[in-house]
Amino acid sequence: MKHVSVLKSEVLDQFSYLKGKAGIFVDGTLGMAGHSLSLENISDKLKIIGIDADEEALGLVKKELSVSKHSKNFILVHNNFKSIKKILVELNIEKIDGALLDLGVSSMQLDQKDRGFSFQDSTQLLDMRMDQTRDLTAAKILNFYKENQLSQIIFNYGEEKFARIIAKNIIEFRKKTPITTIHLLLNILDISIPKSVQMRSKTHFATKTFQALRIEVNGELDGLDQAIKDFASVLRPGGRLAVISFHSLEDRIVKKTFSFLAHPCQCPSEMPCICGLVPEIKILTKKPIIPSAEETTNNPRSRSAKLRVLEKISNTTNK
Ligand SMILES: C[S@@+](CC[C@H](N)C(=O)[O-])C[C@H]1O[C@@H](n2cnc3c(N)ncnc32)[C@H](O)[C@@H]1O
Repeated sequence: MKHVSVLKSEVLDQFSYLKGKAGIFVDGTLGMAGHSLSLENISDKLKIIGIDADEEALGLVKKELSVSKHSKNFILVHNNFKSIKKILVELNIEKIDGALLDLGVSSMQLDQKDRGFSFQDSTQLLDMRMDQTRDLTAAKILNFYKENQLSQIIFNYGEEKFARIIAKNIIEFRKKTPITTIHLLLNILDISIPKSVQMRSKTHFATKTFQALRIEVNGELDGLDQAIKDFASVLRPGGRLAVISFHSLEDRIVKKTFSFLAHPCQCPSEMPCICGLVPEIKILTKKPIIPSAEETTNNPRSRSAKLRVLEKISNTTNK
């Protein structure tokens, strides 16, 4: 199984301060470890904590590492990166020297036919879980959520303007048959989205609804802001957090949270500060770093990627 890491050299550049150093690096979204393994080019003395919600992905990396000289540098953790503080406590680690969050799903997950992430194989079940030990699947959402919940999810997380009619048709359809396969969902979407709109659109008519369901199944946006704050709080001064996002909803949260951490004091500018909150970080990417034309040609999945980087500047962490 292959995953082509996005913005690889741009990410490595951001961590060049670790050159030749010993230190602790957290890869919160290990995937196929593409970014993490390339960190070895910067320093082979780094201890890399590789977190992934997907046990299958971790299993594949473990297998690859077992025949690699780098295996001793890695600690693999099956968890959600949102539990970073707890994970570090359990590993008896207080501070880290760098961290990466490469959000979303990997090509491995998208290409695996039995995971239900992609609508290319329509016979598959509607699963979409990154963490298969959890209960909520896309099929459960489609068969048990109320009409207004479905409509809101599809509108908010998919930015799909036909969300209402899609939700209405889902309810009508499931009165007759449970919606279990990708094929059934594609039929519902096909009758809900006007043909003229489908023809004009640059993307497949199911793209937005699939994105919405995936975000809901995996709670991708819930607590992302707090996770970024937690990562910032455990960085050593001078340490950096790099975040790659793949859609505007994610990027908005990353941008807003970075901005809050860089300017936490919200006291009116004409009054003296009474909150006492001080910046913990500086933002290194005023504008996000995006893939080159060459990268997007070679790897179309990188098209929407945005890399934002912050650097810890102080030892203090605002409560
Ligand atoms: C885009 S891939 C990362 C690819 C990796 N950087 C590489 O180069 O191989 C994202 C990975 O992060 C995992 N993931 C996404 N959100 C997560 C979360 N909140 N906690 C832990 N893992 C997560 C997914 O299961 C997937 O394997």
